[in-house]
Amino acid sequence: MTALAAPAHTGHIRRIAATALLVLAVIVLALLVRPFIGTSDYRTPAWAIWVHLATVIPALPLGAWLLWRRRKGDAAHRIGGRVWVLLMIVTAIDSFWIRTITGGIGPTHLFSLVTLVQIPRAILFAKSGQIERHRRTMRGVYFGLIAAGFFAMAPGRTLWALIFG
Ligand code: HEM
Repeated sequence: MTALAAPAHTGHIRRIAATALLVLAVIVLALLVRPFIGTSDYRTPAWAIWVHLATVIPALPLGAWLLWRRRKGDAAHRIGGRVWVLLMIVTAIDSFWIRTITGGIGPTHLFSLVTLVQIPRAILFAKSGQIERHRRTMRGVYFGLIAAGFFAMAPGRTLWALIFG
């Protein structure tokens, strides 16, 4: 019986391989569509930056509260979770109007694509009772939010200029 069971780490390897494949597919797709996206005369509208900041700022504490709160699945978790998901979806969709780094759709937009794929998956996991997968996926999206926030403060970007410029 035990001789036939797959070793515990195969699940991890499979997941890492699937994620790597997804990222690769998105990079290839982005490279393929790039020539068709006009980059030359595009100017990021100010509203897109404001919408972005208005959604990420409340999403940071709300996400932390949802993840580190002991009680899960109660009304507060579900209401807070819906609000957080909405904030993240608006953040990701709005980001396609922001093109300050490369002047077009660039590698940072991969974060947005991954978010738009992972959030519906995480919701489906919760609805089908796969709580551990739900937790892991939402935690991944939250760390993506933190990482994007750090990137946003890199020298040369708008927030760096706003804070230190
Ligand atoms: C605390 C979190 C975040 C902060 C403070 C933040 C801030 C910003 C700011 C200020 C910009 C304007 C462009 C610039 O800096 O030059 C920007 C652009 C962008 N953000 Fe965020 N962001 C955060 C989270 C996210 C998340 C979660 C995503 C994806 C789901 C995301 C995706 C993007 C993308 C794709 C751009 C456009 C990059 C480009 O110009 O090519 N950001 N972000």
